[in-house]
Amino acid sequence: MEERGQWRSNIGFLLAAIGSAVGLGNIWRFPYVAYENGGGAFLIPYLVALITAGIPILMLEFALGHKKVASAPKAFRIIDERWEWLGWWAVSFVMFGIVMYYIVVIGWCVNYVFFSLTRAWGEDPNGFFFGRFLGVSSGVWDLKGFRLPVVLAVAAVWFVNWFITFKGIEKGIEKAVKVMMPVLFGLTVVVIVWSLFLKGAGAGVQHYVTPDIDKIFHKEVWIAAYGQIFFSLSLGFGIMIAYASYLPRRANIFKNALIVGFTNSFYEVFAGFGVFSILGYMALKQNVALQEVVSSGIGLAFVAYPKAISLLPFGQMFGVLFFFLLTIAGISSSISIIEAFTAAYLDKFAGSRRKIITRICVVGFFGSLLFTTHAGLFWLDIVDHFLNQYGLITVGIVEAIIIGWMYRTDKLKVHIVSQLGLTGRRHKVFDYVVLRLWMYCIRFVTPVALGIAIVNSLLQEFAKPYEGYPVSGILVLGVGWILVTHLFAFGLAGLPWQKKHEAIRDVVEE
Ligand code: PHE
Repeated sequence: MEERGQWRSNIGFLLAAIGSAVGLGNIWRFPYVAYENGGGAFLIPYLVALITAGIPILMLEFALGHKKVASAPKAFRIIDERWEWLGWWAVSFVMFGIVMYYIVVIGWCVNYVFFSLTRAWGEDPNGFFFGRFLGVSSGVWDLKGFRLPVVLAVAAVWFVNWFITFKGIEKGIEKAVKVMMPVLFGLTVVVIVWSLFLKGAGAGVQHYVTPDIDKIFHKEVWIAAYGQIFFSLSLGFGIMIAYASYLPRRANIFKNALIVGFTNSFYEVFAGFGVFSILGYMALKQNVALQEVVSSGIGLAFVAYPKAISLLPFGQMFGVLFFFLLTIAGISSSISIIEAFTAAYLDKFAGSRRKIITRICVVGFFGSLLFTTHAGLFWLDIVDHFLNQYGLITVGIVEAIIIGWMYRTDKLKVHIVSQLGLTGRRHKVFDYVVLRLWMYCIRFVTPVALGIAIVNSLLQEFAKPYEGYPVSGILVLGVGWILVTHLFAFGLAGLPWQKKHEAIRDVVEE
């Protein structure tokens, strides 16, 4: 039987966890969410969300994976057999949903690295992206066929993911992130400093940070803050549980959670300065109000940025760096998803890691093809909305309730403290103050905050179909995806354990 992998060093683990957290969401989602929700004032709910839910759940996932030396399904099973499916659901909807389209977006970035060289979009980045590049069709069910440049890039990105994860934890993922993350940080600094020195940058940044204090009294702003933190820290996907299970026996979980949580947030707040500098520059150059140039997500990266690249001196270079940066940020996240599923599979069914990785990468590639047709953009939008709004938030709530109320956080608490090697008064203070607060956050704040968020999303869903898509599209792709991954999870949870002896040993240890 193959041995369970392990990180060679704590820094390797940290880089991998940060690599998972720092992704497309940090660069194209955060700046816009912050801007929409009160600019500088958004930092208040955002920090509260980080401290009361982000870091506590991160610490929970780290502690759970580390203590049980288990991926999500196994860890939940050890707590209570009935919850095994929850772990399977988390790793399944990310593996057979999120990562399939996430890699398509990385594939677009790869195309844009090359497009930047010639500024292929010419005068009309918008028409180029939606028309010439994606060939967006008339609606959800009008597939027309595949977009070859996207398919080729997606195949390449899947290959890279396979290549990295195939080699295992230490020789594959750890080695890769030790190269990718410093490159990512370096490139980010270059791109942001470059942006900050542009004319008009100051006005853009001012827009980004000017606090709109009134906003923080609106519940939507708080919901956005909790949602952003959850997505951005890759929580509720079973990823951090798997990554922590590869830590050596003595590990400082508390410190690791703080480092990952704050680095990820620092990265996104910092990225916002770069993004808004560019937007400020564009507004100035085109002589329009800043409001007219701001956009998020797809619009920001593939329309607004290309426009800026066309205006900038040495724009081609800037474009290559920017899209390369996005590609790396994306890949360091997608490998974590593949690992979360692989870890779960191997924990239960044993077998050869290499075979499993190869199989799921092939399946993943074919799954990605669903998002590379002329209607791919619509599919991506719907699946993304439903899996993120309902998938990770549900897992987060249930996770907090199971651990907080049924398994009792105390057990994980003891585990966290035992790793620190504190003694005497320091031990007492840490135990009473820090961990007691942590427990309250897990038991009360996280379930309530996420509960409000999910109810709010549901109400909106019923008020009007998401983005005006036809109901059939929403039911089949959105709701359908959730149901199918659920059934899949129940199926996997129902299959017998191949590694029975191990599962039983752990249960007895409880
Ligand atoms: N946390 C990543 C980001 O901010 C997104 C992600 C989603 C990563 C799902 C892994 C899994 O972009």
